[in-house]
Amino acid sequence: MGFDSARHLIDLDHLGDDEVGALVDEVVALSEGGGTGGLVGRSVAMVFFEASTRTRLSFEAAARGCGTTVTRFDAGTSSMVKGETLAETVRTVEAIGADYLVIRHNGSGSAERAAMAVRGASVINAGDGWRRHPTQALLDAATIRGALGQIRGVRVAIVGDTMHSRVARSNAALLTRLGASVVFVGPSAMTPDWSGTLGVEVSHDLRKGIAGADVVYTLRLQLERQRGGAVPSLGEYHRLFGITRERLGWANEGAVVMHPGPVNPGVELAGELLDDPRCLVHQQVAMGVFARMAVLRMLERERCDG
Ligand code: CP
Repeated sequence: MGFDSARHLIDLDHLGDDEVGALVDEVVALSEGGGTGGLVGRSVAMVFFEASTRTRLSFEAAARGCGTTVTRFDAGTSSMVKGETLAETVRTVEAIGADYLVIRHNGSGSAERAAMAVRGASVINAGDGWRRHPTQALLDAATIRGALGQIRGVRVAIVGDTMHSRVARSNAALLTRLGASVVFVGPSAMTPDWSGTLGVEVSHDLRKGIAGADVVYTLRLQLERQRGGAVPSLGEYHRLFGITRERLGWANEGAVVMHPGPVNPGVELAGELLDDPRCLVHQQVAMGVFARMAVLRMLERERCDG
């Protein structure tokens, strides 16, 4: 692998089942008022090469909640525009003074490359290309636990562009591991061929796909990652796969709606649902702060004990 996986959070797959379970427990406990601090004197650098509102701001809030200083790196005005490599950039940020580098990049595998480049800092993957978004999966698992009381036995329908979605990949991996059943629902041109490897079911029919679901997890169309032609139009996509109040009735009674954000109202999700009590979009955002605090505290324990 070329780096110490315990010092970084590149993916939740690097953690054992007990560690993942304990991490979800810690997120829930923090959300219920389970404390702050733990990293006083540490510094966190936010190294984002891709747009973000939720992940960036919640990592910053989490870092401050843990007692660290926070430095922001602006890719657009950095020396990367003069050709500096990712590896040299992260080593430079580390040398200036960062114990933790939170990195988002549109290239799959970028977080690993950063972890291989740094010498003593810990790298946290805040989303790399199509591949992984581990802290999103963690906050989603904790949100489901908070809303439904459990994850084991829960049925989650992930609706939309699962092929281009790092959120779908990370969520499917974590939720199946925690005992949920997952179905990907969407057009065949947007469904990945690896679904079966995680034990994920597939449906190309919205009504059938969300029947029996406790969670209807909608995804933004990743238009920036598609090569075109996957859907004839946004209106057609909404007609076939958009979630509305009426269609939510096809899922189980008491089903909740989730979305990682940002939402395109009227495309994957009817705008009216954003104000519906069954919609957990803003609870997810709030849980993001606690998920990122739990990750920082876990890595700090590793740095102190390891
Ligand atoms: N869910 C998510 O990653 O949102 P941002 O792109 O706003 O960080």
